[in-house]
Amino acid sequence: MTVSSSAPMAPATLAGQVAVVTGGARGIGLGIAQRLAAQGCRVAVWDLQPDALQGSGYAPELALRVDVGSSASVQAAAAETEKSLGPIGILVNNAGINGPVKPVAEYSDEDWARVIQVDLTAVFYCCRAVTPGMQRRGHGRVVNVASIAGKEGMGGIAAYSAAKAGVIGFTKALAKELVGSGVMVNAIAPVITETDLFREMTPEHIAGAKAKIPLGRFLQVSEIAAMVAFIAGPDCSFTTGFTFDLSGGRATY
Ligand SMILES: NC(=O)c1ccc[n+]([C@@H]2O[C@H](COP(=O)([O-])OP(=O)(O)OC[C@H]3O[C@@H](n4cnc5c(N)ncnc54)[C@H](O)[C@@H]3O)[C@@H](O)[C@H]2O)c1
Repeated sequence: MTVSSSAPMAPATLAGQVAVVTGGARGIGLGIAQRLAAQGCRVAVWDLQPDALQGSGYAPELALRVDVGSSASVQAAAAETEKSLGPIGILVNNAGINGPVKPVAEYSDEDWARVIQVDLTAVFYCCRAVTPGMQRRGHGRVVNVASIAGKEGMGGIAAYSAAKAGVIGFTKALAKELVGSGVMVNAIAPVITETDLFREMTPEHIAGAKAKIPLGRFLQVSEIAAMVAFIAGPDCSFTTGFTFDLSGGRATY
């Protein structure tokens, strides 16, 4: 039996695809960028501090200074990336900030707004800038980096928890808008991972987070990168709107 379709063929491999990784200059994003590059992607890193790449031993094909919390900055970066590297096939919305660890009663308007802007609104800006082109071409993969905090909610980081829960909801909604277009939109929800984000957290917060992971250790950046490479790749062909867990057995829902 033959199955005919008027939809364009999806790429059979990651090789040659243009992948944007926001916040890819260090930490988890750097690991994702390196992994996608190792599988043949032409990677563009969009980061507030692209200079952080120096000394990492990794040079992406393109590194742009971008504030993902600025609509204009994101639109300019999308245009420059497509001009330099060609159509964007993969978008990894990874840039994020933790914000201060404080109870809601002590949280300032400014801190709340900054966390929501960088962790949630930026995901909307990047998807709005990039997915219409994917839709026109009939293929694309979006991977949004949420967090276990977005599934469970964590005291002391209510703004972060709310933003990441928003990312999960946004991922479901956009996936439904684009379903059938060849553009898959998924998220990941990692538990605590040892990166520079630790600098903004108290030792008590870090110890408490580790104690909640049944596997009894922190998640490795390479494990996140491997999952992102799968979600962004051709083998993830029947899943959209889903949040993939990286929780060491903690979240089984
Ligand atoms: N580290 C963890 O334990 C953990 C757990 C779950 C989810 N996450 C999520 O993973 C992502 C990466 O976290 P990380 O630990 O690698 O953080 P990190 O602080 O090590 O790196 C974040 C990167 O994002 C960039 N960035 C920050 N604000 C930006 C902006 N406005 N525009 C562009 N770039 C910006 C930074 O310059 C940096 O390069 C975040 O979305 C974070 O919420 C982290």
